[in-house]
Amino acid sequence: NYEKIWLAASVLLILLLLGSVTYGAVGPGVAMVSDSEQAIDAGGLDDDDRFSEPRVEQVGENEYEAYVVAYQFGFQPDPIVVPENSTVTFYVTSRDVIHGFEVAGTNANTMVVPGEVSKITVETDDRQEYGLICNEYCGAGHHVMEGKVNVV
Ligand code: CUA
Repeated sequence: NYEKIWLAASVLLILLLLGSVTYGAVGPGVAMVSDSEQAIDAGGLDDDDRFSEPRVEQVGENEYEAYVVAYQFGFQPDPIVVPENSTVTFYVTSRDVIHGFEVAGTNANTMVVPGEVSKITVETDDRQEYGLICNEYCGAGHHVMEGKVNVV
């Protein structure tokens, strides 16, 4: 009997964990979905059209893509400037070690892994400046690693 209870409890726990990953999605002015995309080419960031020049590009009416590189210890571009009331997809990778990409005060948050591209789509609201922080320990300058996302 105890075995059945434990089994049921662990299944429930797994479902809860899956649920929290799927639904962790709403913050002030920014809603997001996140997943990990295609890898960086073997030639590295400087050979990759997306990241050789970190930038924000307009790809449609009210639609933007931001190509962001995290490094020890900051983000490029800085600030990341995106328009209000638009859909912005961030593609984020790392030049060196594992970092975090967290738009402070929102649920826009992903791990950033060298050689991989993390993707987060957000809906921006009104004009506002957001802090951008690294929430994965990445070395001596981790605590000063920050940037800005300016919704203009
Ligand atoms: Cu980058 Cu901590």
